[in-house]
Amino acid sequence: MAVAVGDRAVVALLTLLLLFSVPASGYQERGTEREEAEKVRECGEDATGRGRFILGRTRRVVRTEAGQVRVVSGDRWKGHPSTMHIGFLRLEPNSLFLPQYVDANLVQFVREGEVEAGWIHKDELVQRKLKRGDINVIPAGSPFYIANTNSERSHMVCGIDTSQSLTYNSQQSFFIGGGTNPTSVLAGFDVNTLANAFNITSDQLRPMMRRQSGGPIVHFSGQQEEDLDPNNDDEEAATTWTRKNLLDYLFGRSGREKARSTESHHAPYAFNLYNNEPSFQNSYGWSTAIDEHDYSLLSSCGVGVYLVNLTAGSMMAPHFNPVATEYGVILSGSGSIEVVYPNGSTAMNAEVSEGDVFWIPRYHPFCQVASRGGPMEFFGFTTSSKRNHPQFLAGASSVLRSMSGPELATAFGVSEEQLGRLVKAQRESVILPASNNWDGGRETADERKKEKMVEELLVIKRGFLA
Ligand SMILES: *[C@@H]1O[C@H](CO)[C@@H](O)[C@H](O)[C@H]1NC(C)=O
Ligand SMILES: *[C@@H]1O[C@H](CO)[C@@H](O)[C@H](O)[C@H]1NC(C)=O
Ligand SMILES: *[C@@H]1O[C@H](CO)[C@@H](O)[C@H](O)[C@H]1NC(C)=O
Repeated sequence: MAVAVGDRAVVALLTLLLLFSVPASGYQERGTEREEAEKVRECGEDATGRGRFILGRTRRVVRTEAGQVRVVSGDRWKGHPSTMHIGFLRLEPNSLFLPQYVDANLVQFVREGEVEAGWIHKDELVQRKLKRGDINVIPAGSPFYIANTNSERSHMVCGIDTSQSLTYNSQQSFFIGGGTNPTSVLAGFDVNTLANAFNITSDQLRPMMRRQSGGPIVHFSGQQEEDLDPNNDDEEAATTWTRKNLLDYLFGRSGREKARSTESHHAPYAFNLYNNEPSFQNSYGWSTAIDEHDYSLLSSCGVGVYLVNLTAGSMMAPHFNPVATEYGVILSGSGSIEVVYPNGSTAMNAEVSEGDVFWIPRYHPFCQVASRGGPMEFFGFTTSSKRNHPQFLAGASSVLRSMSGPELATAFGVSEEQLGRLVKAQRESVILPASNNWDGGRETADERKKEKMVEELLVIKRGFLA
């Protein structure tokens, strides 16, 4: 292993291990790890009661006093190659998500606050401060930790791509450092084998493998016992152990230098979604989509990332994704999402608001509409890192406009002039303004209900006629 991983990585690993020789008393002891058993749903079942493509059920994978991880499973449709889950990581101030590796690619997005991420990239430790809007990729199998070294809570949204996973459609953590909770993968080795491997006695080793009991996310602020720092003989200095020197401790001074030196090499930087020019912008909103051309790390996991901000009442023009399934999280505001089945019937027309998670299967036409009350911002992942080329079905850049001609006119059973009027009336593209004849408020909800009833009647009628 040492040969394959490289000396530096081994040093990093050892220092990580040393960190977890911290006495449990210094950490939260009431932390629990919970795995909530979830019944497998029927395929395509509308589990939320709100719409088939709203992912309602979140599973709490980790909860301690220092933070939590919730996961929304994307595997909802039998036979559908959906392998993406959406994770929500919350870290309280001064906390650490313990070093681990996961059998899935993680595409991280910092929604709030700041975190410090460290991971092994090409046998080197890379450390990055990630701020709001940053995108970072941790490839499957790459050891990493995430720390919140600030005084404010931080939130991350994570695309979990399980295409590399050992078990179909789920992901698993392998903790590097740990004790009784979580258990380090090292604990599975024979104690003599390990003692020999580390060149220490088994008596020295044993306590190290038992101390951590705070769960996968622990606090590291405040005063610690003096045996925390093996290099520190000075009792006074030992009592001033704080979060500030955690990282120095974790990686040692040489580790820090190493991290710095890798920065000047090819260590990947985070990509900030807010600091870059939007891919598309008009008076009604903007959207940014990044793929492997913008951020090469995305190619390693085959995931794309997007962020959209619609002004009040505006909509993404009806469109479909020819190469990817899309997952999204409403970051702020509210609105609605419509999805259409291949046979042209409504698959979903759901109201959404902050925190809702949705998914749109590949090829399915859909649109997002912001409520009149305010802007709606949503963010998400696509299951391809290639350029997505969404195909618009309305607006100035629509395929209807491109295909406008006798063939399409015939298809609709109208004259070319009539078709021309239909496809040319909208001057905007991609993000379209609110319509002027929209009434707003409850009336429309009632009207929609009526429309739905009429629609259902029509479906029934069609059934009778068939
Ligand atoms: C093990 O540690 C001892 C000192 O404690 C050292 O002399 C010896 O060279 C080490 N062995 C290896 C293989 O590193
Ligand atoms: C989204 O757009 C609204 C205006 O419509 C603006 O107030 C808000 O700051 C924007 N959000 C972001 C994250 O840019
Ligand atoms: C259209 O397809 C959906 C999903 O396959 C199905 O549930 C629905 O009944 C179909 N509608 C019509 C009118 O055929």
